[in-house]
Parts: sequence; structure tokens; C-alpha cells
Amino acid sequence: MIVSVVNTKGGVSKTTTSVFLANELALREPDREIILADLDKQGSATEWADRAQDNGDPFPFRVEVSNIKRLPRLAQSDAEAAIIIDTPPGDSTVIQNAIEASDFVIVPTQAAGLDLSRVWETLPAITTQMYAVLITSARLNTKLLNDTIATLEDQGISRFDTIVPLREHIRTAYGFRPPHDGAYADVLNEMLEALKEGVE
Ligand SMILES: Nc1ncnc2c1ncn2[C@@H]1O[C@H](COP(=O)(O)OP(=O)(O)OP(=O)(O)O)[C@@H](O)[C@H]1O
Ligand SMILES: [Mg+2]
Repeated sequence: MIVSVVNTKGGVSKTTTSVFLANELALREPDREIILADLDKQGSATEWADRAQDNGDPFPFRVEVSNIKRLPRLAQSDAEAAIIIDTPPGDSTVIQNAIEASDFVIVPTQAAGLDLSRVWETLPAITTQMYAVLITSARLNTKLLNDTIATLEDQGISRFDTIVPLREHIRTAYGFRPPHDGAYADVLNEMLEALKEGVE
């Protein structure tokens, strides 16, 4: 299973989603090999993993510094492994290659008009892969959130029913193994369910 987390926009929770999702998968399937492939030259996921290790609180999965040349090799190495690819903002070549290697594409976005415009920019790169937009850092029960959901629904865009709220324990997780998080556990369930059914 190969999952990429993409959005051309920066700061929309790509790395946070990659790390929390890999952690939930490790909690659910402790014996499975789980690899977070860091395709972002900024190396945020790698740095997070290293700091967690230094803090004596290591990730329960591997983080591999990777690039588009290595990706196919990583994908072929172990068919049973789960590979989650964290991607950089802006770099359309890297984003395209990550998407093409994937079984499922997660497009995190915040609930704001400007951010949604970057979702429209990102979606055409996803051709045959299953995908879903994930609303993150959301303030629950706000008009902005409801409007964002309505816009996605009007446009027929596939999205996770689960909304990841703005949470202090998510913001402060950097440098440590992420805590179990119910929203990300639900995101994982939804994605595994969709992959099992093979429908978008
Ligand atoms: N649900 C959340 N609640 C609170 N803070 C969050 C949440 N999700 C992400 N953040 C915070 O938002 C910031 C940006 O998140 P992150 O680094 O994951 O984004 P990104 O899309 O990977 O950014 P970049 O494009 O620079 O790689 C971080 O400070 C992170 O801690
Ligand atoms: Mg990032």
C-alpha cells in the first residue's frame, strides 16, 4: 500500500498528517513494516523523527529520506509494507511522481477560500488514483468549515467524512512520537475501507 500526502500549498498539514497516520497504522498493525518516505528537501518529517529519537521517544516506523529516483525501488522492496509519502509544497515534478506511485492520495487542506483554490490546482494531477480531500486544523462548528464542506460537496470532490480539528496536542507533537489521535485513527479507517472497496 502506497499513500501520498500532497498539496501544492505549504503549511496545510502534509507532514503532520503523514506522521500521525503512520503512527496510527503502527498502533493498528504493530508487525507490519511501515515506512514514511520523506520526499521534501526541507526534511521536516526526518527532523521530527530524529528529534523524537533524541528525546528517547522514537517513532514506531521508519522514516527514509527519499527522492523520485528512489521511490520505485522503495515501492518494490516489500509488497506487504505500507509506505506513506510526505511531499513538498510547490514542486510539481515531485508531487506528480509521488501521486503516480500511489494507491491512494490524501489532499490535506485548511478550511479557507484561498486554501481551497490550491486544492483545485492540486486535483488535476490525480488521474487514476483513489483520493480524498482531508480538512485539517479546523475550527469546528464554524460557518467557514460548513461552507468548505458544502463547496467540496457541490463540486463532487471526494473527501474524508472525518475532519481533523485544530488541536494543541497536534501542534505540540513535533519532536516527539505523536500521541494516539482519534481523528487520525478515523481517517485511517476511512482510507483502508475505501481501498478495500476499491471505490472512490
Ligand atoms: N490539527 C492541527 N492542529 C493544530 N496544529 C496543526 C494541526 N495540523 C497541523 N498543525 C500545525 O500546522 C503547522 C503546519 O503543519 P505541517 O508542517 O504539517 O504542514 P505542511 O503542509 O507539511 O507544511 P510544508 O508545506 O511547509 O511542508 C505546524 O506547525 C503543525 O504543527
Ligand atoms: Mg511538510
